[in-house]
Amino acid sequence: MEKKFKSLPEPIYITRPLLPDINEVSEKLQEVWDSNWLTNNGPQHGLFEKKLIDILKVPSLSLFNNGTIALIVACQSLRLSGDVITTPFSFPATPHVLSWNNIRPVFCDIDSVTFNIDADKIESMITPQTTGILAVHVFGTPCDIKKIREIADRYGLKVIYDAAHAFNVEINGTGIGNFGDISMFSFHATKLFHTAEGGALTFKDPNLKKRIDLLKNFGIKNEEEVVMPGINGKMNEIQAALGLVLLDYIEKEREKRAALAGLYKKYLADVEGLTLSSIPEGVKSSYQYFVIRINGKKFGCSRDQVYERFKKYNIFTRKYFYPLCSEYTCYKHLPSSNAGNLRTAKKVVSEVLCLPFYGGLSEGQINEICGILMSFRQGGSKN
Ligand SMILES: Cc1ncc(COP(=O)(O)O)c(C=O)c1O
Repeated sequence: MEKKFKSLPEPIYITRPLLPDINEVSEKLQEVWDSNWLTNNGPQHGLFEKKLIDILKVPSLSLFNNGTIALIVACQSLRLSGDVITTPFSFPATPHVLSWNNIRPVFCDIDSVTFNIDADKIESMITPQTTGILAVHVFGTPCDIKKIREIADRYGLKVIYDAAHAFNVEINGTGIGNFGDISMFSFHATKLFHTAEGGALTFKDPNLKKRIDLLKNFGIKNEEEVVMPGINGKMNEIQAALGLVLLDYIEKEREKRAALAGLYKKYLADVEGLTLSSIPEGVKSSYQYFVIRINGKKFGCSRDQVYERFKKYNIFTRKYFYPLCSEYTCYKHLPSSNAGNLRTAKKVVSEVLCLPFYGGLSEGQINEICGILMSFRQGGSKN
């Protein structure tokens, strides 16, 4: 007999911020108070930068007040201009940072398995106006970094990776922040690791550090010299202190999420019409999201129906990244936004759903979420 589910007494959201023990935060904040130093390269900032270089296994890093300002500065520091090829399947910040630099986003279609920019289609989008590629490691899955590097080298293009979802991701032991000219990590509260708001750029070229650090501090070189039109992108001591405390929590959070992902897989792996997110060979995952793709015909219920029906049970999933960036009013007029150019992205964006995913979820809750999901399909059976 089909099991009947009731609306949950407490809502389950897509994620919850990882919150450390308040006493540990208080202790760390006491250090900030004692130092009498709240921002502009303080001791917590210095220590946090060093620790992150270690954890992310990168040669160089610069901290920011958020990931969006970091990406804006990344474009400035590489002197990108004209057109930059990017993906329509991302958070609004990705194309917006180009616009804020007077750069025209050129949307390239995506890969149907990884949901990342389709490296095989990049070359056909290159024109004399193209100066770079802004690719996103969507949901933390690495882009085709080898092919993108090859194309960029051949055409003399710069590469920026939006690694907002890819904290501590590694490919065969190499930190994801080593690829491309610059990578950006977001430390927004919704991320696996966060500083409430915050972010970082990583890069190999030591000369970039000087320029990036100037750009994020109004272009101020010293008390009497302002050498470029910079912005205020500085991470403050309170953000850095929170980050330092939270660093000790991420491995455990990652383990919990890995176990939850295992449970989702156990319940949903063989269900007709569902494709589950998987971790590529050799990749250490950020476990940022648990993503399913729903073929409405085969599953017996479309992605949009699943999303709406879940809400009635007090379960809040997310249709990331709907709508495509190419459909925003500010970008839909662009030639590259035409639907014929973005066939895979159009299909993927209508089928993808992120399920609740954070360490605080219990096995019972995952059980319930999966049971409710299965009840949406005709008959509610597994196959
Ligand atoms: C893919 C992507 N890029 C950029 C950002 C912007 O980062 P932030 O919120 O730190 O400004 C986000 C969201 O947080 C994102 O998901």
